Amino acid sequence: MASQLATTFTGLTFENPFLLSSAPPTESDSNIMRAFDAGWGGVVTKTIGLHPVVNVDGPKTKFLRASIDSPRLSMQKRGSAVLHSSWNWELISDKTLDWWVPRIARIKQAYPRKTLVASIMAGSGSDQELANWQTLAKACQAEGADALELNLSCPHMDRKDMGSNIGKDPELLSVVTQAVKEVAKVPVWAKLTPSTTDIVVEARGAFLAGADAITSSNTFPSLPLIDPETLEFEMNVDGLVSSGGLGGPAILPLSLAKMSQMTSAFPERSFSGIGGVAEFAHALNYFLLGCGTVQVCTAAMLDHAVGPNVIKRLTMQMVETMEKRGWKSLDDFRGRMRDRVVAHSKIRRPDADAYHGGYDAEGYASTEVR
Ligand SMILES: Cc1cc2nc3c(=O)[nH]c(=O)nc-3n(C[C@H](O)[C@H](O)[C@H](O)COP(=O)(O)O)c2cc1C
Repeated sequence: MASQLATTFTGLTFENPFLLSSAPPTESDSNIMRAFDAGWGGVVTKTIGLHPVVNVDGPKTKFLRASIDSPRLSMQKRGSAVLHSSWNWELISDKTLDWWVPRIARIKQAYPRKTLVASIMAGSGSDQELANWQTLAKACQAEGADALELNLSCPHMDRKDMGSNIGKDPELLSVVTQAVKEVAKVPVWAKLTPSTTDIVVEARGAFLAGADAITSSNTFPSLPLIDPETLEFEMNVDGLVSSGGLGGPAILPLSLAKMSQMTSAFPERSFSGIGGVAEFAHALNYFLLGCGTVQVCTAAMLDHAVGPNVIKRLTMQMVETMEKRGWKSLDDFRGRMRDRVVAHSKIRRPDADAYHGGYDAEGYASTEVR
């Protein structure tokens, strides 16, 4: 089973292409080691920064569920409801770099064959901040981290020069990626935000700066719903809320659309897909669109904190699917569906002459400048 699922991504060997993404499941060495024992091929640490963060007073994550027998969506716990999404406003790791450094070394010593990716984040408003990225990168790789993932995508950072605020600015994103690449001895993955107009622009900025892979998506900016009885947001502190991030099943099709734009634009490049994966059928979408690895957060959070059953299911279903289809390795099916996503006008009409993409005489105004 191991050899069939094994894959190489950005030059690194994975015993299977499934990673826990940077989030609560990867917030400590004990969690990460449990995850490796459970069978995850790789783990991306909770994002490590140089400065301590303080989270909000109260829950940082809740789960939105849909009723089976009505259109109601709510975070309230109730019997017959199915998962719709996770919503969180958690910041990066509240542990310092000094806390992480010896733990990265210990994890790698205990699990030399597993892939450990260090997620890092600093600011970008000054040379000092760019130097902070380099400090984080050097410290993590010196302890044995196999790759670095740049968090350019956290949707709820107040600072204008951090998280998705970097990811929304192709120039800033390039500068940060380049700064890390200057000191990196291991592959660098850039985790992009989905909340931009054309993610191909940001992906190009990252690749031009030397990124070895793109990771996408982080959570989508969103608000909790307002309870119609109490007229309070279902998640709030003293009645107040701020924009947070949506993950889980609801974002699978949204994240796929972003991924497809990038894999079509850069078919030779490496991509790690995230968003709404709980079983192999979900992950298969990312692989068929061209991804070389897939990452999981929400489904793992709901399964004993590190997803032991999720990873068992993913690997078992991948083996079953490969055997059924006669696929020998991930390379046999990676990217197979990439070219099936085309412009709307390329979709067949009942009458081939009926539509020309909105041009010509179809009732639209002429595009000619008068
Ligand atoms: C509570 C929570 C905390 C997260 N923290 C981080 C983080 O520190 N760094 C990061 O890059 N992504 C973070 N994420 C985003 C996840 O890694 C992932 O990109 C996102 O949840 C989408 O995957 P999913 O649909 O499997 O949940 C966090 C997500 C959640 C739910």
